[in-house]
Amino acid sequence: MEDRILILAPRGRDAQIASELIQQSGFPCTTCVDLDNMVVELDAGASAALITEEALAKGDRTGISDWLKSQPAWSDLPFVVLANGDRSPRSALASMRLEDLGNIVLLERPLHAEAMVGAIRSAVKARHRQYEIREFAATLERSVQERTIELEAARDTLEVALDAAGMGNWTLDVGTGEIESTPRYDQIFGYDEPQRGWNRERFLGHVDVADRVIVATALTAAAAQGEINLECLISTKDGSARWIAVNGRVRRDLDGTPSRITGVVSDITARREADARLAQAQKMDAVGQLTGGVAHDFNNLLTPIVGSLDLLRRRLIDDERGQKLVMAALSAAERASTLTQRLLAFARRQTLQPSAVNISSLIDGITDLMRRSLGPTIEVVIDVPADLSSARADPNQLELALLNLAINARDAMPSGGQLTVSATEIDVEEGSVPALKAGRYIRVTATDTGTGMDEHTLAHAIEPFFSTKGVGKGTGLGLSMVHGLAAQSGGTLTISSVVGQGTSIAVWLPAT
Ligand SMILES: Nc1ncnc2c1ncn2[C@@H]1O[C@H](COP(=O)(O)OP(=O)(O)O)[C@@H](O)[C@H]1O
Ligand SMILES: [Mg+2]
Repeated sequence: MEDRILILAPRGRDAQIASELIQQSGFPCTTCVDLDNMVVELDAGASAALITEEALAKGDRTGISDWLKSQPAWSDLPFVVLANGDRSPRSALASMRLEDLGNIVLLERPLHAEAMVGAIRSAVKARHRQYEIREFAATLERSVQERTIELEAARDTLEVALDAAGMGNWTLDVGTGEIESTPRYDQIFGYDEPQRGWNRERFLGHVDVADRVIVATALTAAAAQGEINLECLISTKDGSARWIAVNGRVRRDLDGTPSRITGVVSDITARREADARLAQAQKMDAVGQLTGGVAHDFNNLLTPIVGSLDLLRRRLIDDERGQKLVMAALSAAERASTLTQRLLAFARRQTLQPSAVNISSLIDGITDLMRRSLGPTIEVVIDVPADLSSARADPNQLELALLNLAINARDAMPSGGQLTVSATEIDVEEGSVPALKAGRYIRVTATDTGTGMDEHTLAHAIEPFFSTKGVGKGTGLGLSMVHGLAAQSGGTLTISSVVGQGTSIAVWLPAT
């Protein structure tokens, strides 16, 4: 239908003559009865329309005007208009109506067949150009669609990959400071729901106060430097502290001015913690080696001192005053020896005599002593299942260690409280408890309702000579000895503590 010519020439035999001429030239024709009928036929498709001026003047023209306006961008239907042929000049209204049609060729009467067919031919030709443009536009649109789909797929792939790597994506508009983010970005900052309205200030608001100025400066400098790479502490929506890494590159306008910074953000808390743990472990190893070496030599020196004092004591058997002095020296040497034993324990260099220890009866054996040492204001609760597997450890050293934990608990509960000693059997997976290999362990826990430890104390509690108890009160060797024993036995020591609520210290020993 697209190639046909529509004819609207209601007067006399105009339509019939025109139709015959045009058909002879090879174009199919359809004759319309009025303007409304022409609109219906136009909807079905036409490459040009032949219309007489008087037909245009008659009837309601809104239909045709609407149709013309609703043409798609490629279309501008050509009209060949047969003018009235009066000698009188055309009225302003009539000219306007002609103009309304847009793409017209005006043929004045009397009509030459040749001129009319020529005009129709050019109109059809022009119409064909429009069809070509339509084709071209369609092809263009198809390839834009294809590219869009490809781009979307690529973006999805990228998003999935970033998400799999735990990375959030962000783009900062350098001018406005607004930030676009992906859901993973929002999650890193503690928001489960996707967030709108991110901007520079809101991001900086999450950054730890101590880091805020540095991060703000880095963001500003990024535009000039072309990139940003930093790690900082943030507090998430619910106030918990996390470490994040931010990496971004600057994107520029065509004229080279930085317009946006795009990049990724990831939560690196676990890595940071692992790094800190490793550094702490290395430090403890170094301190351990040093302490162990000194303690070992010192202990060797003590042996002849104690031996000689012993001999001297026998010689001075009748000298009461001499005896007193020697006894004082001996008991000091004894204390020195205990001290070196603890240092050796911390350094994991004490001589252990491990055996399969029944934890339940070992704790039974020291409960009385524990109760007496802790006094009446502290309730001691023992919670150990009788059918526990035995643990591999040196029983004497283990008793000492548990007493140490009890004494620490007592010191943390000056106005009384409760100490619970419990034991359980636990299957540990590789990596789930720091410093423990996969396997089955007996965990003996001493939990008190005391003062708890602040962050600094918790971080340093097992270091040798670390004590908060004041000169002459604490040696700072209790926890380091317990930790050394547990580690040397193939286990470890873990502490959890809440200021004002209490402390729970666990000794992990391999089950036999
Ligand atoms: N149960 C506990 N509650 C609170 N703080 C504790 C507890 N156990 C140990 N600490 C803290 O750890 C520090 C080190 O303990 P420790 O090595 O036994 O040395 P000391 O008892 O000689 O101070 C203590 O000074 C104390 O600050
Ligand atoms: Mg102690």
